[in-house]
Amino acid sequence: MSELNKIALKIISNGKGILAADESNRTMTNRLDAVNVASTPENRLLFREMLFSSEAMKECIGGVILYDETIKQTSSFGKSIPDLISSVGSVAGIKVDTGIKDLANSSEEKITEGLDGLRERLKKYYQLGARFTKWRSVYIIGESYPSKLAINSNAHALARYSALVQENKMVPIVEPEVLMDGDHSADSCFDKTTEVIKKCFEELILHKVDLTGIILKPNMILAGKQSKNKLSSEDVSKKTLECLKNSVPSEVPGIAFLSGGQSEIEATENLNLININNNTNFIMTYSYGRALQQSALKIWSKNTKDIESTQNTFNHRARMCSLAAKGKWSNNFENK
Ligand code: 13P
Repeated sequence: MSELNKIALKIISNGKGILAADESNRTMTNRLDAVNVASTPENRLLFREMLFSSEAMKECIGGVILYDETIKQTSSFGKSIPDLISSVGSVAGIKVDTGIKDLANSSEEKITEGLDGLRERLKKYYQLGARFTKWRSVYIIGESYPSKLAINSNAHALARYSALVQENKMVPIVEPEVLMDGDHSADSCFDKTTEVIKKCFEELILHKVDLTGIILKPNMILAGKQSKNKLSSEDVSKKTLECLKNSVPSEVPGIAFLSGGQSEIEATENLNLININNNTNFIMTYSYGRALQQSALKIWSKNTKDIESTQNTFNHRARMCSLAAKGKWSNNFENK
């Protein structure tokens, strides 16, 4: 077993998943503005360190994705943030893309940037304690979208990123996110997601990336947010499994889904059914941002001194996701 494979398995095995706490300062400011909390470096740290020192971290969170600001911060307990995370048996990760920009010659679409100087930045992040990384590309669905141009250029960047990350002894999370925005059908999401993921693996293989040392972070197969024809959770799970079975090489150890705008319960129920119906050898778990943090943030915003209620809320959500990662969740457990 390679070292990279070991790290990947440590992050996603035994019902553990990933806490995506890597919102950029801009995104975090939007989240904090929405609940009337000032977006200062201190407040961003306060909320995040509360999550990282919660009870459920030990059993449920195998890895935490951090943002550049957070990985360099020191917690109120005096430990660096990566040390705080590893002290509870979890692995610190870091978002290394520098964001999305308009794609030249297809300006409704996006290209993810961040390859320039990446090798040097990776070395610094490793020294700070990171052992895995994230790079997210996004794709819209429309009549002629995602275009071949967006699919090919983003796959190329994801592969170059992954190769550099492995060269620096870290596990790359490969995140091609086909967005939920729009009124497209689930069939369309299925077809486009399949095409996007297949192209990513074609490029990863071309760039000689060790597939046993990556984690794929895809969207689930869902109808667009504005579509009137939503799939049942059972069908979401079956279509998602079929798509991944068709497009992901068997060497990949695991798949950690993004929540992408699903509600906390939806994201939990869908993951639970994916695990109940799992007819693949892939570990299927979560790498949720909003679906792990939303309720905790709301509770915290009511009284930013109430650490206990905030942590209890996060603990509950993380435990529900962990049960779903084992196919053992039930709606009955939701009434704490
Ligand atoms: P969401 O689960 O809120 O979609 O965030 C996951 C993530 O890391 C997006 O890049």
